[in-house]
Amino acid sequence: MLEYRKATFNDVEAIHKLCNHYATLGLMLPRSRNSIYENLRDYIVAVEGDKVIGCGALHFVWDRLAEIRSLAIDPDKQKTGIGKEIVALLEKSGIEKGTQMFFTLTYQPGFFIKCGYEESDKENLPQKVWKDCVYCPQYPNCNELAFVKILPGYKPPKSKLI
Ligand SMILES: CC(C)(COP(=O)(O)OP(=O)(O)OC[C@H]1O[C@@H](n2cnc3c(N)ncnc32)[C@H](O)[C@@H]1OP(=O)(O)O)[C@@H](O)C(=O)NCCC(=O)NCCS
Repeated sequence: MLEYRKATFNDVEAIHKLCNHYATLGLMLPRSRNSIYENLRDYIVAVEGDKVIGCGALHFVWDRLAEIRSLAIDPDKQKTGIGKEIVALLEKSGIEKGTQMFFTLTYQPGFFIKCGYEESDKENLPQKVWKDCVYCPQYPNCNELAFVKILPGYKPPKSKLI
């Protein structure tokens, strides 16, 4: 049976393996065990039996602003709706805390369009978003695309000085 739940310490090795499998292919950022432990409350996992077959994280960045990241689905389980469901659950948990704007930096534009995201100029995101970029192997030659989902009626602040 497929189950979605918050990640626990027992899931860290599986999350690490999934994310870094795709990181070695250049599809997403690598995640250290340290980073997964420190941000464990951000993560949701999809579990089948006792196997983690997908993960994703929601990271709060600033006022009402949160990033969808570390989204990875087992290669044998892709295109079965798991990624979309994880994004929906992450958004739900963010909205419960008052999030009004979600963003992601990705090489998978088609998937995020299916999840209701729109491409945005990276310049429109606050500077604070870029603080982790120095840890990225691609830095400073980043080709990731920025996608955002803004909840109806919300007007993001214009200032980028955060
Ligand atoms: C990208 C990824 C998370 C998508 O997860 P998934 O579980 O395979 O996707 P879903 O089955 O939920 O797909 C939802 C919809 O998006 C579409 N879709 C999925 N991946 C897509 C892609 N790469 N390009 C275009 N459309 C895609 C599906 O066909 C589906 O469309 P539908 O609603 O019309 O049926 C997954 O393929 C993955 O782990 N990729 C490798 C790691 C990665 O790139 N992560 C993203 C980092 S930001």
